[in-house]
Amino acid sequence: MEADGDIITTPRGFHCTLCKVNLPNLPSLEQHVKGRKHNTLSTVRITRKTQEQHSVFVSGLKPNISQSDLAEYFQQYGQVSDVIMDKDKGVYAIVQFTETDSVQATLSCVEHLMRGLKLRVKPRDKKDFKLVPKKKDNQNLQQAFDRLKPQLCQLVSVDAQMQYVVERFQLGENEKKARGLLVQLLQEVFVEFFPDSQIQPFGSSVNTFGVHSCDLDLFLDLENTKVFQAHAKSTTEQAREGTSDDGRSEDSILSDIDLSTASPAEVLDLVAAILRRCVPSVHKVHVVSSARLPVVKFHHRELNLQGDITINNRLAVRNTRFLQLCSGVEDRLRPLAYTIRHWAKQKQLAGNPSGAGSLLNNYALTLLIVFYLQNCDPPVLRTVDQLKDMACEEEECVIEGWDCTFPSQPIAVPPSRNKQDLCTLLFGFFSFYAKFDFASSVISVRKGRALPITDFLSQNKDEEAMQEEKPTKTQLHGPKLGPLNLLDPFELSHNVAGNLNERSHRSFQRECQEADKYCRSLQYQRKSSKGKSWGLVRLFAPHGEVPKAKTEQLTISIPFKSASLPEVLRNQLHAAGDGFRLMWFQKVCCAVEEVFQRVLGCHFAPSAVEDSAFDASADMETTSSSLNTSINDSCDSVESHNEPSPVGRAAVGAKRQLSSGSDASVSPQGKKPRLAKRGRPEFPHWICVQKHMVWAGRRKVRRELIKDTDSRPEGSCMELESQVTAHIIEKEPELKEPLEFKVQSEMIGGTESTKALLKLEPTSDAAGVFHDFFHFLEAFLPKMVETLLEKEH
Ligand code: UTP
Repeated sequence: MEADGDIITTPRGFHCTLCKVNLPNLPSLEQHVKGRKHNTLSTVRITRKTQEQHSVFVSGLKPNISQSDLAEYFQQYGQVSDVIMDKDKGVYAIVQFTETDSVQATLSCVEHLMRGLKLRVKPRDKKDFKLVPKKKDNQNLQQAFDRLKPQLCQLVSVDAQMQYVVERFQLGENEKKARGLLVQLLQEVFVEFFPDSQIQPFGSSVNTFGVHSCDLDLFLDLENTKVFQAHAKSTTEQAREGTSDDGRSEDSILSDIDLSTASPAEVLDLVAAILRRCVPSVHKVHVVSSARLPVVKFHHRELNLQGDITINNRLAVRNTRFLQLCSGVEDRLRPLAYTIRHWAKQKQLAGNPSGAGSLLNNYALTLLIVFYLQNCDPPVLRTVDQLKDMACEEEECVIEGWDCTFPSQPIAVPPSRNKQDLCTLLFGFFSFYAKFDFASSVISVRKGRALPITDFLSQNKDEEAMQEEKPTKTQLHGPKLGPLNLLDPFELSHNVAGNLNERSHRSFQRECQEADKYCRSLQYQRKSSKGKSWGLVRLFAPHGEVPKAKTEQLTISIPFKSASLPEVLRNQLHAAGDGFRLMWFQKVCCAVEEVFQRVLGCHFAPSAVEDSAFDASADMETTSSSLNTSINDSCDSVESHNEPSPVGRAAVGAKRQLSSGSDASVSPQGKKPRLAKRGRPEFPHWICVQKHMVWAGRRKVRRELIKDTDSRPEGSCMELESQVTAHIIEKEPELKEPLEFKVQSEMIGGTESTKALLKLEPTSDAAGVFHDFFHFLEAFLPKMVETLLEKEH
């Protein structure tokens, strides 16, 4: 890390000069350096550097000079691998060679005369690689919206608008033909080097959901080549004498590589070399080995097409067939998918540029649509299990141990009894996900229902659930859980939305809620007689900055992150079944108390006694009823499984008060459950008093205390943080007027992601320090709570 020239130390932590991001501590720095963005930029930088070293800058051109003219002329100095021209003006070009020696040879020539033109040839400028800020996405989205709006407004119904969206965006016949020809060309080239190999398109080019200029995803199937190679090996003797079966292996690139032992990256390097050297018009070829499935990326200049070649990706070809089947069975799927994909793009919810990112990918979004259609009443689409039962024996298909059986022809699947129109189905999609309980569910397109997340929280149960879904596979590992869990229909250990973070998931659900609200209005359903925006138009308005509500700014959110909970706690939550949310929330509340009292040295004000007493029984009743859970059951089951720690005990003890350790906040035992106003659950709150500015200068004190022997980040160790506070209290003067503030807790869950919300409000702040303290708490409190939850288990 030290040697990484891109990282500089700053007073606030670290700064990566390559990615232009600040990292507050060492663990986040380590994560960043291992992350996709940093690695992609490093690779791009290396590629640029290599290109710089292999190319020359040529000026003095005339517009009638073509790329091939230049390639032909410079060929005399060495093999030319690429010529890039400023097409509009035709005044300069960059000529790239395969070898650096050719650059020297070109530069050492005093005069370059081509077709009577005196060319000026210079070495490339050595520019520092800089991250160029992306073109404002919003501008593009706004332009797309402005273009579509008038056409949509004049159509007669939402159904007609949705059909129009398909026509407007789908791949045209000529585009499909051009892609087909490129695939054919690649097939011809690759078979020369990899005998019996096959190149197969998958993804949006062929899954019936492709839009203009979508990527061309290709799978290079080398299975038969491996067989060929093994056979060639076994007849080495013959081959040496040049009498092998068909003579193909002699001039094959295969003599350089053993496909049965080579790593995907090695094979892809070869693929990249073939693309560079043997396929006309292909440029910008590079291997991305850090992706989940390593890939060779290229661009086809004439078709202006981005292509990706993967190996070991048979499952993708199969799931493409599955989506084709769904489209063939159900005509309403395409208009729905095109409309929802466009909506998601406009709202910046889906479509990660270059594959990486924390948004939904289009495949995951399409599966969400399929899942919703499986759950309509009556269902529009069958579950994958039902489709499997409709397949005949010849259609049985197992790939890498996963059952991928379904009928090959749509005719084998009886039509749906659901006759809802597109307008209703679209509205239904938004309503379905607006209310969907993502936090407690793992979406299974295979089963057509949501599986309880608790089945996946503990590793053993995880495996059982997987076994239930797919009994043949023996080597199992659970899916990577996140805020949105969507199992691939075939590869059941893969969460296709595993890349989403809290924020992108929240945006998805929030936009569904907004769309749901809008779809209830007449504006959605009826054409405006006054020529105003109606129907899909308002849905496609680009995502704008949503101003934060004032109250939101003083709220700290602690999300339920199943993946980062300790194993023991995960097991307890698993055992709590439906009551897992409340149990988790109670543990969070206990931890919050600990942080305020023990870590930050706050006092709970006596006035809090009456108010803050969290009568667990009362809250459990009201909360569990609102969540349709039985917390008492869950508590019992937990208590019988584990002897809780003091914090845990206070949190889960059904008849005990939440607060631990604070006499002031103890409520009388046996107090009658308080029914909350209007049937809403009542959550605990605290009135806290802070006499010292314990948030100021913590980093410095922490550094002094650990004397650089320990690089633990802020909030990762309770003892250390308590010591830091004690040190500040001892050394720094008290505030002239103590800060008093109220912390109101609330649990969100059910129709939204589960999280604990803490609303902070100053009740007495003569020193005017509340906002500083709040900003410190925003980062510190969630981290510290996470640490405490870990520590207690
Ligand atoms: P994309 O998410 O790119 O979908 O995945 P797409 O339909 O091609 O949409 P564009 O290209 O963004 O317009 C491409 C293909 O990769 C496979 C699927 O076959 C998908 O169709 N894939 C993707 C998976 O198998 N698993 C994944 O998690 C993601």
